Amino acid sequence: MKITYTALVYGFISLFLSTSCVQAVFSEDAFVIDWQLANLGPWEKIIPDARDRNRVLIVSNSTETSSLVSSFNISSGQILFRNVLPFAVDDIQLDSNDHNILVCVNSSSQKWQKFDLHDWFLLDEGVSNVPATTILPPLSYPNDQVIIKGDGLHVLDKTSGLAQWKLELPQGFDKVEYFQYEDPLTLVLNVNHTQYIGFSVNGTELIPVWQREESLTNVVDYAVLDVFDSRDVELNEDMKAEVFSDSLWDAYWLRLTTNGNRLLNLLKDNHFSPGRIFTKVLGLDSKDTTASDLKFGFAKILIVLTNDGFIGGLDMINKGQLVWKLDLQIDQAIKMFWTDENHNELVVFSHDGHYLTIGLTNNLPIIKSRSSLPVKKNVYSVIKLEEHQYQYLIKFDNANHLLFTLDPRKGMSASFPFLFHSGSRMFITEHDSDGIYGYIIENDLIKDTWQRIVTPKEKIVAYDKRGETNLNSLGITLGDKSVLYKYLYPNLAAYLVTNEELHTITFNLIDTITGEILVTQKHKDSPDFRLPTDIVFGEYWVVYSYFSSEPVPEQKLVVVELYESLIPDERLSNPSNLVCYNPLTGNVNKPQFLTKQFIFPEIIEKMTISKTTDDITTKAIVMELENGQITYIPKLFLNARGKPAEEMTNNDKKEFMATPYTPVIPINDNFVITHFRNLLPGANSKLISITTNLESTSIICDLGHDIFCTRITPSGQFDLMSPTFEKGKLLITIFILLVITYVIRPSVSSKKLKEQWLIK
Ligand SMILES: *[C@@H]1O[C@H](CO)[C@@H](O)[C@H](O)[C@H]1NC(C)=O
Ligand SMILES: *[C@@H]1O[C@H](CO)[C@@H](O)[C@H](O)[C@H]1NC(C)=O
Ligand SMILES: *[C@@H]1O[C@H](CO)[C@@H](O)[C@H](O)[C@H]1NC(C)=O
Ligand SMILES: *[C@@H]1O[C@H](CO)[C@@H](O)[C@H](O)[C@H]1NC(C)=O
Ligand SMILES: *[C@@H]1O[C@H](CO)[C@@H](O)[C@H](O)[C@H]1NC(C)=O
Repeated sequence: MKITYTALVYGFISLFLSTSCVQAVFSEDAFVIDWQLANLGPWEKIIPDARDRNRVLIVSNSTETSSLVSSFNISSGQILFRNVLPFAVDDIQLDSNDHNILVCVNSSSQKWQKFDLHDWFLLDEGVSNVPATTILPPLSYPNDQVIIKGDGLHVLDKTSGLAQWKLELPQGFDKVEYFQYEDPLTLVLNVNHTQYIGFSVNGTELIPVWQREESLTNVVDYAVLDVFDSRDVELNEDMKAEVFSDSLWDAYWLRLTTNGNRLLNLLKDNHFSPGRIFTKVLGLDSKDTTASDLKFGFAKILIVLTNDGFIGGLDMINKGQLVWKLDLQIDQAIKMFWTDENHNELVVFSHDGHYLTIGLTNNLPIIKSRSSLPVKKNVYSVIKLEEHQYQYLIKFDNANHLLFTLDPRKGMSASFPFLFHSGSRMFITEHDSDGIYGYIIENDLIKDTWQRIVTPKEKIVAYDKRGETNLNSLGITLGDKSVLYKYLYPNLAAYLVTNEELHTITFNLIDTITGEILVTQKHKDSPDFRLPTDIVFGEYWVVYSYFSSEPVPEQKLVVVELYESLIPDERLSNPSNLVCYNPLTGNVNKPQFLTKQFIFPEIIEKMTISKTTDDITTKAIVMELENGQITYIPKLFLNARGKPAEEMTNNDKKEFMATPYTPVIPINDNFVITHFRNLLPGANSKLISITTNLESTSIICDLGHDIFCTRITPSGQFDLMSPTFEKGKLLITIFILLVITYVIRPSVSSKKLKEQWLIK
């Protein structure tokens, strides 16, 4: 029998693909572990849809470049369809000839688009000459059938003018948003500006049927708060008590008594029934998902900060349910940080130079202080200095800087931070579309060190710093057991520069201490600058995306892998201190690199790298696509050392997880983690990855106009037994095997003995 190695490799790849499909989204998982807050934003205009009394059309989230027109079921409070129009809309009208057609107009530029309301197909569009037949349906409110008297709302009967229904106005009532008398009677109230409550008639009463929260639209920053299991906290207390006890004997006695009490409580809880305890220990009736969510670290509160200055806590295991919300009353929030390691306090910075501290005691937020920065200028960006607690580097719109210290005791500012004075030097790198700037912070003074300014025809379109990762291996073991050493120098950043004059896009790798460019690579395949580009920097590799128009329009994905040397087993870094490149000590060796280009079938908007606790799980590149879907591909597929299958030598095939080079990367439907969802990420969305307690699992969220979260397992769920795993059967089998072994053993040994004595 002869099996060729190629066949083996293909067999392996197909096996890998089929096993990796197991971790992807399947219909029973869809809508179970993932959740989405589909937002409209504050409603600007609302008109009834003539086809169906249950439906209305809503215009919201108008900006200078886009607006959102949605079809909404006013009886149930459900979004039926959302459509982003690429221009500002200030009016929507129904065509009087055919009520199925909607015309969206911008009155100043006279731009309009006409849609079929059945399927939202664009029928016609133009500038000026808005179809003359359009009419605006009469406004449903103000309406003389609804009157507000004191803190009550009355709906009057049309003929008699007597109050037919009465309603006590809810706290924070703002205005009547929509009213329709005809069957079904519907009333929508706007409360606290961003909440909408829909009422309908039940007998003689008006009762609330649905409620929508529109404040958490357009997220600008986030923070994550872990929810701990109270039992773990208890255990932690016990451990602490043991550590602090006077002698070993005391500690031992403490453990013995607490565990004894625990056993007693367990027996009591189960009414001293051994059967119950047995099933409980075996976990046969473990339907308690909350406990496992707590244990696996899925239970978290996702805190989001919106552009309009709202901050909200979302329960990540309860479909993103809003736990609390706070209106910070600031104009344009930009950044949010934890001020302490215990995650008890947040600081929020706004564009106009205000900052607020928010305390989170017992998981409820309170605004502790509200002040403004000592410099009255508009804030461009805020960086938290990790090495110096409570210090922030603030950059203003005019490129000036401020080193700002938050006094942890009062939440007040001190612009002369003698308290946290530290002699150490710190290197900071900042960037904008014109350049990259290096600073050094020494004795609480900011000094410029280097700058890389691009020419007026050039623009920095994407930037990423090498993130901190856990070091698990120094190199890659090749098929012949030799090792290629990874380039692990930490102070690196990668960026992309577009050049309009030359029609090129250039990838650069820069040393953030000296500003020296270590690697540069230019693409001349006529990149399209109108389409998005992005870059991510993993442990020793960079992946970036851009759209090229030559020879055919294609989305490109490029991987660059950095090695100390491309010669196997050659190690240039000093093994004793792991520093392979340190410009300050004169220890210089530049990386050597390999690169490969791939073609991707969809336009990529944004990318991020999946994060796990120990960085052992294979990394995945998570991508937000232009069509609003989110997908991921394992980094293994983007292998810069890959060769076409027919060129692979036997040694190459022996390498662990070696994949041949295939220039086109397909999208597997099972890897589309948004599956059937209609996601509107918006222009400034953030694609993030959050670690859990399980090494295999990473939480992926897309925060922007909508909020979407799910969990992915790029290497499969290797550390979690499936819920269908039959613990009981396994134990019974082991038990039977043990019994059999004990029964058979004497007979086997007597047989052996007889054989030795040649008795047959
Ligand atoms: C709107 O919701 C109501 C009440 O839940 C339901 O009866 C109706 O069928 C829905 N209409 C549409 C178009 O979804
Ligand atoms: C209409 O469009 C123009 C340009 O497209 C925009 O500047 C203007 O703000 C829009 N008008 C309204 C009322 O939104
Ligand atoms: C509106 O806000 C007020 C105070 O901020 C609060 O008491 C009230 O419950 C809010 N209304 C609703 C419907 O949540
Ligand atoms: C409407 O009222 C009836 C009784 O009058 C009640 O049984 C029913 O639950 C109410 N419906 C809702 C949605 O509250
Ligand atoms: C809504 O408006 C914000 C700016 O206010 C914008 O960033 C976002 O992309 C818009 N959302 C959509 C879905 O267009």
